[in-house]
Amino acid sequence: MTEQNTFNLEGKVALVTGASGAIGRDISLALAKAGADIIVSGRNSERLKKTAELVAECGRKFSIIAADLSDRQEVQKLAQASVATFDHVDILVNNAAANVFKKAERFTETDFDLIINTNVKGAFFLSQCFAQHMLSIGGGSIIFITSQLGQTAMNFACLYGATKAALMQITRSLAFEWAKYNIRVNSVSPGPWATGMLEPLFRDGKTEEALTRLTPSRRLGAEGDLGGAVVFLVSEAARHITGQDLIVDGGFSICKIIP
Ligand SMILES: NC(=O)c1ccc[n+]([C@@H]2O[C@H](COP(=O)([O-])OP(=O)(O)OC[C@H]3O[C@@H](n4cnc5c(N)ncnc54)[C@H](OP(=O)(O)O)[C@@H]3O)[C@@H](O)[C@H]2O)c1
Repeated sequence: MTEQNTFNLEGKVALVTGASGAIGRDISLALAKAGADIIVSGRNSERLKKTAELVAECGRKFSIIAADLSDRQEVQKLAQASVATFDHVDILVNNAAANVFKKAERFTETDFDLIINTNVKGAFFLSQCFAQHMLSIGGGSIIFITSQLGQTAMNFACLYGATKAALMQITRSLAFEWAKYNIRVNSVSPGPWATGMLEPLFRDGKTEEALTRLTPSRRLGAEGDLGGAVVFLVSEAARHITGQDLIVDGGFSICKIIP
């Protein structure tokens, strides 16, 4: 009997939002290495080219589709263009996110709308569009990239953390409702990463060191650390896993004492 590689994604197509950022690039590359063709999305097409090139180097097909997820019409168009390009999209990774680094007392309504509309509204309606498509192709897999800040508090993360907590509950609810359509829905929660969204906070010369000390592995997340978790969850190896959150943080979430 031939041994099957249950992590193999050949024949699958994945859409990764926020694919020009540090973590989105990592996810796109890991999915491509596992055999999937990739649609990379973000607002800026130029920034997406680097990720697309890396996908091509893995011998996989790619498509670049720009869309602003905070705009409901663009969300719809992204879903339509994705399906028109590849006929089927089996995997959706809701990775794009916005944050505005401010103390809670300084947030404006504009900040509030940007963070909530990008992180929650955009991801929810994109998932809704794809659920309809996945239903028509017999199933699929949806991932929300959440954050440890959905469960713990930190300066400048009040609204951002609230959106990540919302996505964790949306993950459970959609998993519950869409299991009957053979659509699995899970989330992946990164801890602090050395590159990407947190970089502006590291300019103070203290935060990066403090977060590293709070991480038992003694380093922050880096290139290559996240994609494997996503590949696992969307693959056949995780076929009976839905509604779950997988934490990828070098132990950050279990650390209560700094030795
Ligand atoms: N970095 C960390 O320490 C960390 C920790 C925990 C969780 N996370 C999560 O991991 C994910 C990726 O984070 P990252 O560090 O890679 O972030 P990043 O480097 O800031 O990248 C964010 C990505 O989202 C896209 N994006 C932002 N606003 C958008 C919008 N309105 N419409 C469409 N795309 C938009 C950006 O592209 P454009 O600007 O071109 O649109 C970019 O590709 C996020 O969900 C984040 O919350 C990150």
